Amino acid sequence: MRKIAFITGAAKGLGKNIAIEFAAQGIDLILHYNRSVEEMKNLIEEISRYDVSVATVQADFTENHQLDHFFEEKIVPILNNRSGSKLDYLINNAGIYEFDNFNKLNTEFLDKMFSINFKAPLLLMKNCLKQMNDNGRIINILSTTVSRPYKKMIAYGASKAALQNASNALISDFGKRNITVNTIIPGVLALDNKKIGVSEKIINEMYIRNYAIKRTGTAEDVTGLILFLIKEGSGWITGENIEVSGGYVYE
Ligand SMILES: NC(=O)c1ccc[n+]([C@@H]2O[C@H](COP(=O)([O-])OP(=O)(O)OC[C@H]3O[C@@H](n4cnc5c(N)ncnc54)[C@H](OP(=O)(O)O)[C@@H]3O)[C@@H](O)[C@H]2O)c1
Repeated sequence: MRKIAFITGAAKGLGKNIAIEFAAQGIDLILHYNRSVEEMKNLIEEISRYDVSVATVQADFTENHQLDHFFEEKIVPILNNRSGSKLDYLINNAGIYEFDNFNKLNTEFLDKMFSINFKAPLLLMKNCLKQMNDNGRIINILSTTVSRPYKKMIAYGASKAALQNASNALISDFGKRNITVNTIIPGVLALDNKKIGVSEKIINEMYIRNYAIKRTGTAEDVTGLILFLIKEGSGWITGENIEVSGGYVYE
C-alpha cells in the first residue's frame, strides 16, 4: 500500500514545499488549507505531474466546533475511500505568527493563537493514535521562540512551547506502535516576511546577526529534515526537538 501524508497549511509557504517534495517521493497526500483557495488550486496543478493521489480539506482551526469533529468528518472519509487505509505521516505545519505586547493580549487574540498553533495540532495528533499505521511519523513545526522568549511574540512563543511540551509528553503512547513524534524548530525563513511587517533591517539585527550561518532559512532547509525524519532508517528518533536555524548563538 502506498504511503499517505496529511499536511496542514499546505497551500503556501513551507507547507507547499513539503507537499511538493512528498509528491516527488510518491507519497499520496491529504492537503489542508483555510483561506488560500487559489493557491491550493495552483498547488494541485503543480503536483499533477507526479503519480500520486491528492485530496484537499478546508478548515478554519479557530472554530472549536469544526476542530472537535474535523478528523472524524473530513479525514476519516478520505481514508475510508482508500479501502480503510490509515495515515503514515502527519505534518502539523499550519500556524500563525503575529506580534503582540501587553496591550494586544486579550482572550480573543489568545484563543486564536492557541487554537491554530496548539489545539489543532494536538487534537490531530490525538486522532492519530487510532488512525495512523504502525511506524508512522508525526512532525510538529515550532519556532525558535519556544526556547528564546520574546516580549513582542508572547502568545506565539507560548502557543508553540505548549505544543512542544505536548509532543514530548506523548512519545511513549505513540512509541508503543513505533510511531515517532518529533518537532522542528525553524529560525527565520525567507518566505514572505513582508506580510508580518518585518523589515530586512530588523531581520538582520534580530536574527541573522546571531546565526552562525549568516542567512535566513529556506523552505528546503526545513523540508530536507522532514524527508530525513520520515525515512525508514529514522524510526528510532523520537521526542527530539531539532533546530534548523543556522546555528543560533548570541555573539
Ligand atoms: N516563516 C518563518 O519565518 C517561520 C519561522 C519559524 C516557524 N515557522 C512556522 O512554520 C509554519 C509555516 O509557516 P509559513 O511561514 O509557511 O506560514 P504561512 O505561509 O503564513 O502559512 C501558514 C499556514 O497556516 C494556515 N492557517 C492560518 N490561519 C489558519 C486558520 N485559522 N485555520 C487553519 N489554518 C490556518 C494557512 O492556511 P491558508 O493560507 O489556507 O489560510 C497557511 O497555509 C508555521 O507553523 C510557522 O509558525 C515559520
